Amino acid sequence: MPKKDFLSIADLDRPDLERLLRRGLEMKNARKEGREKRTLEGKILGLIFHKPSLRTRVSFEAGMMHLGGRTIYLTDKEIGIGSREAVGDVGEVLGRYLDAIMIRTFDHTIAVDLARHAPIPVINGLTDLLHPCQILADILTVIEHRGSIENRVVSFFGDGNNVAHSWINAAGLLPFTLRIAVPEGFEPSAEIVETAKKRGGKIEILHDPRAAAKDADVLYTDVWASMGQEAEREKRARAMAPFQINAELLRLAKADALVLHCLPAHRGEEITAEVIDGPHSVVFDEAENRLHAQKAVLEWLLA
Ligand code: CP
Ligand code: NVA
Repeated sequence: MPKKDFLSIADLDRPDLERLLRRGLEMKNARKEGREKRTLEGKILGLIFHKPSLRTRVSFEAGMMHLGGRTIYLTDKEIGIGSREAVGDVGEVLGRYLDAIMIRTFDHTIAVDLARHAPIPVINGLTDLLHPCQILADILTVIEHRGSIENRVVSFFGDGNNVAHSWINAAGLLPFTLRIAVPEGFEPSAEIVETAKKRGGKIEILHDPRAAAKDADVLYTDVWASMGQEAEREKRARAMAPFQINAELLRLAKADALVLHCLPAHRGEEITAEVIDGPHSVVFDEAENRLHAQKAVLEWLLA
C-alpha cells in the first residue's frame, strides 16, 4: 500500500474526513473512560519546527505517548533543511529512522518536498499556506457542541491566511456555509477558493464583517499577523480593526453562536477579552481537540 501523508484537507475525500472526525471523538471518549488502546507501541514520530508552538508540539508529543509511541523534537538549528542539507535528503534519511514526520515550516513547498522524498507519512503542522490539523480540531469542536456541522454557517474574520485556507478546503468537502470576512487586499488564495467551490463548497468572500456575522452559528478568528509577518503588525492591525470579534459583532450572530480561535490570541486585537473569555467561547475545548483529532490522524497514517 502506498504511504499516506496529511498535508492538506483538500487531499482527503469526504468519507476520509468524516472518518477522522468520528475517530477523533471516539478516541477522546475512550481516553476519558480509560479504554484507550496503545495502538502505536514502538512507533517514532519526528517533529520538525521552524516556527514556535505550544499546542502543536505538546499535543503531538502527548498524543504519541498516549498511544504508546515516542517523539523526537528537531529544530532547524540542528537539521538546517534546505541550507545544511537538501530537503529531499533529509526526508530520505529520516525515513530510515522514524515512522512518521510532522513539520511546521514557512514555505509550504518544503512540506510537500519532504513528503515526496520521505518514504514515511508526513504531517503538516502548519505552513504559511495551510493549517489542516487545526481545522480538524475546529470541526470536531463544532460537532461536539452542536451535534453536526451540516447546514451551519461558519464565519471567519480577519486575515485570509493559512487557517482560513484550511477552512476553505474543508468547506469543499462538508455541507456547511463558510463566510470569509477580510479587508480588501487580505483575501484568501483565489485558487484555493475556486478549487473548493468546484467540489461543491458554499463559500462567500465578504468585506463587510456585519454581513458575515449575521445569523452565523460559529464566529472564528485568528491573529492578524501570523508567524513570520511580525514586521507588518501595525499595517495589518489598522486594516483588520473593523473585523475584530467583539460583543457588538457577536450580537448579530445566532443567540447560541460558538466562538472559536485557534490560539494564541491577542485580547484587544482580533478578539475582545469579553468575548474570548465569555460564555460563547469554546477555545479551550478547541485547543484540547487538537490532541484527539491528531491522534486519529496518527492512527490513520501509522497503525
Ligand atoms: N493553534 C496552534 O497551532 O497553536 P501553536 O502555534 O501553539 O502550535
Ligand atoms: N495564522 C497563525 C496561526 C497560528 C496557530 C500563524 O500562522 O501564525
